[in-house]
Amino acid sequence: MRAVVHESYGPPEVLEVKDVAKPEPEENEVLVRVHASTVTRSDTGLRNTEYFFSRAFTGLRRPKRTIAGTELAGVVEAVGAGATEFGPGDEVFGFKGGANAEYVCVRESGVLAPKPAGLTFEEAAACVDGPLLALTCMQAAFPLEGKRVVVYGASGSIGTASVQLAKHFGAHVTAVCDTRSVDVVRSLGPDAVVDYLHEDFTSTGETYDLVLDAVGKHSFRRSRRALSPGGLYISADLGFLWHGPLAVLATKWVGSRKAKIGIGKYRKDDLLLVKELVEAGEYRPVIDRTYPLEEVVEANRYVETRQKIGNVVLRVAP
Ligand SMILES: NC(=O)c1ccc[n+]([C@@H]2O[C@H](COP(=O)([O-])OP(=O)(O)OC[C@H]3O[C@@H](n4cnc5c(N)ncnc54)[C@H](OP(=O)(O)O)[C@@H]3O)[C@@H](O)[C@H]2O)c1
Repeated sequence: MRAVVHESYGPPEVLEVKDVAKPEPEENEVLVRVHASTVTRSDTGLRNTEYFFSRAFTGLRRPKRTIAGTELAGVVEAVGAGATEFGPGDEVFGFKGGANAEYVCVRESGVLAPKPAGLTFEEAAACVDGPLLALTCMQAAFPLEGKRVVVYGASGSIGTASVQLAKHFGAHVTAVCDTRSVDVVRSLGPDAVVDYLHEDFTSTGETYDLVLDAVGKHSFRRSRRALSPGGLYISADLGFLWHGPLAVLATKWVGSRKAKIGIGKYRKDDLLLVKELVEAGEYRPVIDRTYPLEEVVEANRYVETRQKIGNVVLRVAP
């Protein structure tokens, strides 16, 4: 099968489309014929130097998992002897390392769910990483019903998901993005959109219960005056060597406004919620660009510009 392989860490050019052995499903796994995958910020961060700290888990000198990618949508081709939830022919979407490939094996109990009705494979592949990270990052502020929420960086993958999910949970949402993204972000249904190139949301006199910094570009210090007493600032950016952990520590015992870092988790239940919301017309993926698998280097270069709006998809099956 064809797969995007990288034997070393480095720039997008370390990625190569190669023929590798097709995997076989184990007892409780399903073999998915991947129709579409994506390139996420995490995929690029794990390959380049951005998430160098994660190499303690992904391999110190070279990647332990050599096939790139994490999001997938496709059709179940075969199942292991103990698998009962899915069968051949089922259309699915989910999250699994090694997804930039024609086939991937996923544990049936893992982050895999029936593909939302009405979505193409390309759309479904873009409905995993952003919303699942958004859900776990926002969790510390639940319940959101009636709360005033700012999503800063509303044009990214986590941002576009956060706007829609916060609306679903009943929040009053102010989405902050730059001029070129205003129309796309407005189409996601926030109550207000602020173009940060023309207006600073912290200087309008309005206050909020939650500032969710979906791109790690608006620190707690800069957000503080827009937080209501008891308000919460959450950064989706792990910021290991930057201001995030310091703000978390500093606000733990002092002041009523708190800072937290959102640690993303990938959970099957959250994926099932996304499926439900898509089918109810409450969630849709934003796709910026779609590349054929062969152009994976170009796709990674684009994601590394940090300018994508929503998601970048890879078309795997013709
Ligand atoms: N918490 C976790 O577990 C976890 C897991 C994975 C990734 N992350 C982190 O989450 C962050 C977001 O990921 P993502 O995939 O959503 O990012 P993304 O899609 O790459 O975000 C790109 C968007 O961010 C906007 N942006 C860039 N600089 C900005 C700024 N200064 N102010 C406002 N918007 C800005 C860009 O639009 P404009 O420049 O046009 O505004 C662009 O639309 C990344 O830092 C990533 O490392 C966290």
